[in-house]
Amino acid sequence: MKAILCKEFGTPDKLCLEEVDTPVAGNNQVLIDIYVASTNFPDTLQIDGKYQIRPPMPFIPGSEVAGIVEAVGPDVTKLKVGDRVMAACGIGAYADKVLSVVETVRILPAKMDMRAAACFNVVYGTSYYALKQRAQLKQGETLLVLGAGGGVGLSAVELGKVMGARVIAAASSEEKLEAAKQAGADELINYSDGELKQKVKDLTGGRGADVVYDPVGGDLFHQASRAVAWDGRILIIGFASGEIPAYKVNLALLKSTSVVGVFWGAWTGQFPDQNHQNFAELFEMYEKGSIKPLISKAFPLAGTSEALFSLMQRKALGKVVIEMKQES
Ligand SMILES: NC(=O)c1ccc[n+]([C@@H]2O[C@H](COP(=O)([O-])OP(=O)(O)OC[C@H]3O[C@@H](n4cnc5c(N)ncnc54)[C@H](OP(=O)(O)O)[C@@H]3O)[C@@H](O)[C@H]2O)c1
Repeated sequence: MKAILCKEFGTPDKLCLEEVDTPVAGNNQVLIDIYVASTNFPDTLQIDGKYQIRPPMPFIPGSEVAGIVEAVGPDVTKLKVGDRVMAACGIGAYADKVLSVVETVRILPAKMDMRAAACFNVVYGTSYYALKQRAQLKQGETLLVLGAGGGVGLSAVELGKVMGARVIAAASSEEKLEAAKQAGADELINYSDGELKQKVKDLTGGRGADVVYDPVGGDLFHQASRAVAWDGRILIIGFASGEIPAYKVNLALLKSTSVVGVFWGAWTGQFPDQNHQNFAELFEMYEKGSIKPLISKAFPLAGTSEALFSLMQRKALGKVVIEMKQES
């Protein structure tokens, strides 16, 4: 099979496309014939050796796919050949086929196409866990989403609306803000002028946001953490800006603020039943038409480097996918 290999840590141009042996499904594993793989910012960190988990070299990057089960391991009974599935495979997605353990694989709702399925797991899994379990977002509260035109950001905008919040979407360009508006955002802030804090205060009558969803970090975190309402929660999603900000804890004291960590992948391993329940609810939202990933660009497997660069260069709108084949 064809696969993208990471043989040394670095930028996406170091990746190479090669022919490798097709893996064989062992116990508790299925082999998935990949139709679409999604790109996620953590993939850019993983190939650069900056992610929490460092797989042994060489490895095939890419953490989530949609496709059809081609083979099942000897003891697998929950899934069968021919099932249409999505999988949070961890690594191995940028290839024709991937092995995934049974617990990370979900059968698709009938109406879900392969592109949407490939982009579902990570963004909605992360954002729903963040807003529901971690922030306990309530109806009528104000949710401020940073990086609102990106992958996890747009999903947080959609879910915030479903959960009954007033959503302020903040991003660096009008194109990204238009995407957030289409996803349901009530208010839009272009923060490219460096005035995020004041604009949030203006939109909230000086009160600030009840919940801040921050996948960006850096200066935007500093500004947002000063535009939080009493009893506010700041969700630490990630640091796409490259800067992990330091927090002055006197700010927490002054406004009774909670700074709340979010590591969805680790949580799913510890609380699989809660995660399954979240996905049952997310699939229901999808089937009702309340949520749907925006896929702005599809690359072939050979274009994986270019796709990952588009994330690093802040050019990606919503989700960018790698498409191996299309469903007939
Ligand atoms: N905690 C978890 O469980 C979890 C799970 C998944 C992802 N994440 C994290 O969430 C973050 C976003 O991931 P994603 O896949 O949604 O990425 P993405 O689609 O590339 O979105 C990231 C957004 O960050 C903003 N940004 C600001 N400075 C940037 C820079 N220097 N480079 C790139 N983007 C920059 C961009 O919006 P503007 O241009 O509008 O500023 C961009 O749209 C990452 O840090 C990732 O590690 C965390």
